[in-house]
Amino acid sequence: MKKNLKFAALVVSAGLIMASCEGPMGPVGEDGPKGDKGDPGTTLGCAECHNSSSPMSAFSAQWSESTHARGGNAAYANRAGCVQCHTSQGFLEYLAEGSTANISVPSNPMQINCATCHNIHDTYSDADWALTNPGAQTLEVKYAGADVIWDKGSSNQCAFCHQSRSVNPAPTVNGADFTIASNGTRIGPHHGPNTNLILGKTPFELPGEAHPTNNPHSTANGCVTCHMSTPYGYLAGGHNMGLMYDSHGTETLLKTGCTTCHTNATEIDGKVNALTADIEDKMGRLEAQLTEAGVYNPATGLAKAGTFKANAVLAYLNYNTVKEDRSNGLHNPGYIRTLLDNSIATMETLGFADPAK
Ligand code: HEC
Ligand code: HEC
Ligand code: HEC
Ligand code: HEC
Ligand code: HEC
Ligand code: HEC
Repeated sequence: MKKNLKFAALVVSAGLIMASCEGPMGPVGEDGPKGDKGDPGTTLGCAECHNSSSPMSAFSAQWSESTHARGGNAAYANRAGCVQCHTSQGFLEYLAEGSTANISVPSNPMQINCATCHNIHDTYSDADWALTNPGAQTLEVKYAGADVIWDKGSSNQCAFCHQSRSVNPAPTVNGADFTIASNGTRIGPHHGPNTNLILGKTPFELPGEAHPTNNPHSTANGCVTCHMSTPYGYLAGGHNMGLMYDSHGTETLLKTGCTTCHTNATEIDGKVNALTADIEDKMGRLEAQLTEAGVYNPATGLAKAGTFKANAVLAYLNYNTVKEDRSNGLHNPGYIRTLLDNSIATMETLGFADPAK
């Protein structure tokens, strides 16, 4: 593929050979006519990507089946405060400006696509596969007063969008009673608190058992270890990035990212089922306590208006964080268990019995 570039270099050096054999200098002549614009020399790289052996078509097909392509929220969330994560244009404008303060709302909003994550059609060479946002990310929400950094290889790209949003104002542990101003409020970290949970640094921890600091699933390459592992057709892994696929009517988990560590592939389903059952049980108990306390409305799935003990609102925020993460505990099993156990115990001390007891 590189021979095209070498050809370009030859054309340029041929021009330089013309200058030689000088006589005495004559008078300065008039300016000549402007030359034409010439070949920009950029079209030469097209075939580095657009060729029959490139994986581009397969990746494109995987992406087309993904939530990034089909989720539809580039339309719904095409507003100030949302476009930086929900539209391709908004994310690229954020990268160009280095701030989310003044991002315009695009009139033709696009879902996350190849050009959101790669510098497509920038230099028109395969260097354009470089990621648009490769560096370490400082997350929006601090932990114990300190910045939280996500620096895990090619998954840094994911972290800017898949992180907790700040809750402001927020209750503090054992702090003053906290008022949730309106019914149906979406108070919480938003829909993608994945990075914060994987690092085990979420802001609403309650006192009780110590939170484990070791997460076997906080891998060196982060999200891509599991979500971009060897794909199952177009339906999961690779550039689909989802992990569940339908296999003849059965919801199936893609395990190609797991087996490097879990060498016994057949054991994985049993472990996942046990973890899922445990997390669902804890979530169910905490939900019952929060419902009784009047913080949570199970009919809407959202918070209720009222003034509550600060720790009860923190317990709700932990519930909401785990719910929105949607990994059923898998992103950080021990930490997520502790977050829920301490929330359940806290609700008990506030007088809301644990249904399991
Ligand atoms: C870094 C690899 C890369 C290079 C180099 C490259 N392209 Fe593309 N091109 C892409 C990708 C990725 C897409 C989007 C494919 C998709 O959405 O499935 C694309 C799409 C296109 C399309 C479809 C319309 C569009 O913009 O989505 C055209 C036409 C095109 N490229 C022409 C070119 C030409 C001409 C060149 C050379 C001047 C070139 N490309 C160089 C990667 C590349
Ligand atoms: C959400 C972000 C994201 C989107 C959208 C995305 N990619 Fe990627 N792509 C990545 C990441 C991250 C990697 C590196 C994966 C790894 O390290 O295993 C990658 C790797 C690649 C590679 C290998 C690059 C290399 O240097 O060898 C190609 C080719 C590629 N993507 C093509 C595409 C095409 C074509 C599309 C659109 C159909 C696309 N990508 C959309 C994030 C994305
Ligand atoms: C520019 C922001 C952005 C980046 C970068 C990004 N995502 Fe996403 N991701 C989203 C949004 C927004 C959605 C939901 C799309 C919708 O609903 O329209 C989503 C959806 C997903 C989903 C599907 C969730 C579901 O409910 O089906 C997975 C899995 C996912 N992303 C993983 C990743 C991974 C892994 C990376 C990095 C390789 C990544 N994302 C990079 C914004 C991003
Ligand atoms: C920091 C990045 C970020 C910002 C800012 C953001 N979102 Fe999201 N949003 C996401 C991600 C990532 C997902 C996908 C989560 C998933 O599917 O697991 C998502 C998902 C959603 C969903 C789908 C929820 C569902 O249950 O399927 C809606 C609706 C949504 N966002 C609306 C908004 C609105 C409205 C705003 C602005 C007020 C906004 N978002 C701001 C990252 C963001
Ligand atoms: C150790 C493997 C692993 C790692 C690393 C990992 N995930 Fe997951 N993730 C999972 C599994 C397993 C699920 C549950 C799959 C399901 O139910 O759809 C999941 C679920 C999700 C979901 C919800 C998917 C859905 O369809 O509802 C999102 C979004 C997500 N992960 C994003 C991320 C992001 C972003 C990162 C990196 C910050 C990450 N994950 C790191 C394994 C992993
Ligand atoms: C980087 C290595 C690594 C990867 C990749 C990995 N795991 Fe694990 N996982 C571990 C280790 C280590 C443990 C703790 C020992 C054990 O239970 O096997 C563990 C534990 C688990 C547990 C039990 C957690 C508990 O406390 O109940 C489940 C379930 C699990 N892994 C599922 C998965 C799935 C599904 C994937 C792929 C999507 C995956 N793992 C990928 C290393 C990994």
